[in-house]
Amino acid sequence: MGKRGNGGAPEHVAIIMDGNGRWAQARGKPRLFGHHAGAKRVREIVEACPDLGVKYLTIFAFSTENWKRTQTEVSGLMKLFKRYLMSETKQLVEAGVRVRFIGDRIRLDETLVALMDELELLTCANDRVHLTVALNYGGRDEVTRAAKRLCRDVAAGKVDPEKVDAEELARHLDTYVLPDPDLVIRTSGEARISNFLLWQSAYSEYEFIDTLWPDFTREEFARVLADFSQRERRYGAVPG
Ligand code: FPP
Repeated sequence: MGKRGNGGAPEHVAIIMDGNGRWAQARGKPRLFGHHAGAKRVREIVEACPDLGVKYLTIFAFSTENWKRTQTEVSGLMKLFKRYLMSETKQLVEAGVRVRFIGDRIRLDETLVALMDELELLTCANDRVHLTVALNYGGRDEVTRAAKRLCRDVAAGKVDPEKVDAEELARHLDTYVLPDPDLVIRTSGEARISNFLLWQSAYSEYEFIDTLWPDFTREEFARVLADFSQRERRYGAVPG
């Protein structure tokens, strides 16, 4: 379970970056134009984290369902991810950002996976902000893969099936080194979880905001965090 960071700030914020397509359409541009604008916002929000007391930021970049989009959009997004990882590496290393990826890498192309591995390695000693990028990620898929790994460990005699509990399952998730998110933000006015961090967000607060992702500024991020710091979290207990 996560905890409050500095001054009531959430220690771990997760974001569903939605609305790139509508942002582009409103300007008469192709959807990929919106994804490029969205990618620019990522840096601003990551850079804002240390000042705002956020230690962990997890962003939903591509879901297991996003493969159903047109071939043009999917290949454009994959190209964008590769370009982004190459162009941001130096800045991320110098800014003290530790980057991790969650999701199933099996369907991603090998050049992209090599860049992901390289960035994880180059930033592994950083500790200022922990940025986790969910790429080919789905909550149900993650729990299913975790269950499979756990079954293998049981079959290999490494885990006693009688001792399998929620903590043991969580140790097999992609997020095993991360605290649970305290706050999940979704932009663009949609109030859905869309298969994001299903297990981990059991006790998270949710904030659904109307702004489209490419318009989400650090000032608005700060406002959402300030709202969060006013909330009382009970984790299922009665008020004290
Ligand atoms: C949702 O908008 C956005 C995505 C599926 C992709 C998110 C990707 C980025 C923000 C690009 C950069 C990310 C990284 C890590 C470099 P949408 O297309 O669903 O928008 P719509 O709901 O308006 O159609």
